[in-house]
Amino acid sequence: MQFTFDAPTVIRMKRDGGTLPDAAIDWVIDAYTHGRVADEQMSALLMAIFLRGMTPAEIAQWTAAMVNSGERLDFTDLRRGGKPLALVDKHSTGGVGDKITIPLVPVVMACGGAVPQAAGRGLGHTGGTLDKLESIPGFTAEISKSQIRQQLCDLGAAIFAAGELAPADRKIYALRDITATTESLPLIASSVMSKKIAEGTRALVLDTKVGSGAFLKTEKESRELARTMVELGTSHGLTTSALLTDMSTPLGRAVGNLVEVTESMDVLAGGGPSDVVELTLALAAEMLDAAGIDGVDPAQTLRDGSAMDRFRALVAAQGGNLSQPLRLRTSVETITAPRNGTMGDIDAMAVGLAVWRLGAGRSVPGERVQSGAGLLIHRRPGEPVSAGQALFTLSTETPERFEAAIAELDGAWSVGDAAPPARPLIIDRITSGD
Ligand code: URA
Repeated sequence: MQFTFDAPTVIRMKRDGGTLPDAAIDWVIDAYTHGRVADEQMSALLMAIFLRGMTPAEIAQWTAAMVNSGERLDFTDLRRGGKPLALVDKHSTGGVGDKITIPLVPVVMACGGAVPQAAGRGLGHTGGTLDKLESIPGFTAEISKSQIRQQLCDLGAAIFAAGELAPADRKIYALRDITATTESLPLIASSVMSKKIAEGTRALVLDTKVGSGAFLKTEKESRELARTMVELGTSHGLTTSALLTDMSTPLGRAVGNLVEVTESMDVLAGGGPSDVVELTLALAAEMLDAAGIDGVDPAQTLRDGSAMDRFRALVAAQGGNLSQPLRLRTSVETITAPRNGTMGDIDAMAVGLAVWRLGAGRSVPGERVQSGAGLLIHRRPGEPVSAGQALFTLSTETPERFEAAIAELDGAWSVGDAAPPARPLIIDRITSGD
């Protein structure tokens, strides 16, 4: 006789600190995907996992069950110039102002890579690539499998909503976003890796964030997360490596949806903030290495406009219209400097929460996000400041949100007499076996 599970038993096992058997994990993921386990029950199980953790074997099983909840794409038959595509992708564990995918994908396209990117929406205080790109009029990530294949061959990339890939993650991700269960190593690792294993890439680079704006705050936890994800990718046949990168202060000068697209286009035009350029190029080099592409300089694609051409072609193929300047009607508020001095550290978490309060993220599932909600940082840590000068500009379509957003920034920045200690943006590189 086949043994079947029920949700209260599975929840109780994890609540009491037990290890879930493989069959219980397979059952609960399948039953939740098909609506036989209720949201309340999965929420309780997620909280139990959040509090009790999972063993490496449980994480591997949970990830495999999420991959098996949907289809696994395969592009190994595709050819360009008679050769197999150099399939490679990157995924970030989530940050504030982390728009890197937007300039990075076109750089890798221009260098000869093919990027099948299943992208996500905002989670908690962090933004999502899909929410950002959808602020371009007409852009859609709901594209068919045949369009993904066509774009990979003709252009070298497709950025798409995960759709039928890892549908268990889609449901669980949305639930975590509203049940305070995002900051969990097993849940982050399985969420990221289930999508990436299912999307059909051959090589993967993980940008694992460290610092106040990351889901896991300490370097020790982030290293553990990176190692876990690298081993999951490797065991599913993907060439996988990770960079550990700083997320104690927001990346670049723009945080929000449309403002991050605009900043990304500045990078593609050969300008943009130095930290965004540095991280884009470091991840591009790592991706090209993983895909076996050598003899090309990713920085050249920003200088000669070839990455910008690829971006425009990619956006156009997915219905986006970049022929008009990207502007939106929003209300703005400015925060000014109280004194002369030097800008101190800016807390990434507080900025992420402020932008979420301005309307860039969700507090109930499926909520519409505001394209125009965002924050511009006029003075980065270490830059000189004069009294009365604008430090931050906040924008929203709903001005009643300003008060709560400004309150989030209280105590999150300072103007002092000296520059804060410099931190390296790229902390370490992690490969299988590290
Ligand atoms: N990105 C994901 O896809 N999932 C997470 O849990 C965090 C970041």
